[in-house]
Amino acid sequence: MSFKNKVAIVTGAGQGIGFEICRQLVREGAQVILNDLDTSLADNAVKQIIEDTGGNCMALVGDSSEITFIQKMVDTAVSRFGHLDIVIANAGITLFGDFFTYSPESFYRVMQVNLGGTFFLTQAASNQMKKQASGGSLLFTSSVTGHQAHKNLAAYGMSKAALEMLAKNLVIELSQYKINVNTIAPGATLTERTLEEPGYEATWSRLTPMGRPASVADIAGTALFFVSDKGRHITGQSLIVDGGWTCISPSPY
Ligand SMILES: NC(=O)c1ccc[n+]([C@@H]2O[C@H](COP(=O)([O-])OP(=O)(O)OC[C@H]3O[C@@H](n4cnc5c(N)ncnc54)[C@H](O)[C@@H]3O)[C@@H](O)[C@H]2O)c1
Repeated sequence: MSFKNKVAIVTGAGQGIGFEICRQLVREGAQVILNDLDTSLADNAVKQIIEDTGGNCMALVGDSSEITFIQKMVDTAVSRFGHLDIVIANAGITLFGDFFTYSPESFYRVMQVNLGGTFFLTQAASNQMKKQASGGSLLFTSSVTGHQAHKNLAAYGMSKAALEMLAKNLVIELSQYKINVNTIAPGATLTERTLEEPGYEATWSRLTPMGRPASVADIAGTALFFVSDKGRHITGQSLIVDGGWTCISPSPY
């Protein structure tokens, strides 16, 4: 139970990577606030986690990029569990679109959720952790598309690259309070969303040097390491978890 007495918030966790991070944190003894925009996804996720683990997890439904709701997540963690130790800003939206016709609405929504939500949740959580004076751990979910260009993902890719710079920059602000801040950059990962894409698993198995896309457990395991005591001296870093995909470039052979 390596997360016993730890309190965590995970955003965008009704399904996919965030859900598995919550499940593993609760299994390891953490008390977790599971956020999602979708009420039934959030409620079902919490039900399943409690059934699987017998642990402590509560749903908090709302938009993780909405300023008043962000403060509510932090306040709820403190009123319900007494303190806040870990925040995993995982909610992110992938709005594909041709660069030449990409709409301002799509652009600003991607920035609002992926960047604004992470920035202001980090701000609210850091203020709380600073007050508690017992350190803390912050983790952002980036993407390989923040490292490698990917067609029709200009806005998404730039938002993910920016998150990695945010983590680096906050080392200046947060280290004095013993708060570490890192980023994890998944490659193609099998989730409810990506599995809706026809042929997703077969295509990414062919393109990935390790012969398969990531599972949510691959990503969640890495995430838990960063926010655990084992990762407490790691800060400002980003780790790509992609089965080697970003290591290779198109080759004539
Ligand atoms: N799945 C992948 O292959 C992959 C690869 C690289 C990076 N990522 C990143 O990992 C993170 C999770 O991706 P995923 O594919 O597991 O999840 P997903 O896209 O299925 O979304 C997970 C949940 O987030 C919720 N959500 C969306 N916007 C929200 C908001 N504003 N507030 C609260 N909840 C919101 C959705 O309702 C959904 O249940 C994202 O940041 C994504 O960009 C995913």
